[in-house]
Amino acid sequence: MGLRELESYGEPGAMVYLADCVELMRLMPAGSVDAVFADPPYRLSNGGVTLKNGRVGPVDKGAWDRSLGSFERDHEFNVRWLEEARRVLKPDGTVWVSGTHHAIFSIGFALQTLGLKVINSVVWEKPDPPPNALHTAFTHAHETLVWASKGRGHTFNYELVNSPNPGGQLSSVWRIPAVPRREKLCGYHPTQKPLRLVRRALLASTGEGDLVFDPFCGSGTTAVAAKELNRSFVGAELEEEFCELAARRIGATERGSVLREIRALGPGA
Ligand SMILES: C[S@@+](CC[C@H](N)C(=O)[O-])C[C@H]1O[C@@H](n2cnc3c(N)ncnc32)[C@H](O)[C@@H]1O
Repeated sequence: MGLRELESYGEPGAMVYLADCVELMRLMPAGSVDAVFADPPYRLSNGGVTLKNGRVGPVDKGAWDRSLGSFERDHEFNVRWLEEARRVLKPDGTVWVSGTHHAIFSIGFALQTLGLKVINSVVWEKPDPPPNALHTAFTHAHETLVWASKGRGHTFNYELVNSPNPGGQLSSVWRIPAVPRREKLCGYHPTQKPLRLVRRALLASTGEGDLVFDPFCGSGTTAVAAKELNRSFVGAELEEEFCELAARRIGATERGSVLREIRALGPGA
């Protein structure tokens, strides 16, 4: 099977394939991607409870978020897709992976096992976390983003994400609120990421015209961030309804719009 035989959504320069990410990556040439941004399944929809609209209910993001049967199998999956991600990355390419404690330690171990070098471990601090339903733990107020390279150099657009004042350098703790309503106008995805988060990662680590790949495209946040910043995008998504949602969001985005704003306003993301 070739790329052309897969069902695709979006537009030239921002394509989403209805496919398993490992199978899609196997069709992509080695060393073809500048950056991977991945938000893989958390594997947390396994009988836990949460508070939703004031009521305790089961955590259920969807079948895609269930465990593959054991921690070992979930970890093997992480090694499998990261191995392919490493293959498709250019020698100076980098990979971002976001996650909660349910998956991020497996991800970190897999990255290091595969010889990828961690550049930063970024804390996405959520100012508005959901309350802890059963009063048994602290509220979960952050997620982690691991940023890693193949070890042959990497892009860091220091001046684009920092103000000229060296005392005000952006740290690895990013305080960014949950997804605003205006980013949900094209439809619903249970784990949509805020554009500000993905935009900052791509602005810092890629250049205009670079190719960004997202193996777990979901609602297409990475595609939108890439298009706003005039990067090219390819993504994989298993669920047709999310491919359609991503395509709607891509269609509603103006190419290069945020890049033009940044140029007009000056540095500091
Ligand atoms: C955590 S969500 C990503 C959310 C995305 N970052 C956003 O902002 O909308 C993970 C997505 O990966 C998809 N998925 C799960 N396993 C997959 C696989 N093996 N290949 C491709 N997509 C997969 C799920 O359907 C889900 O939409």
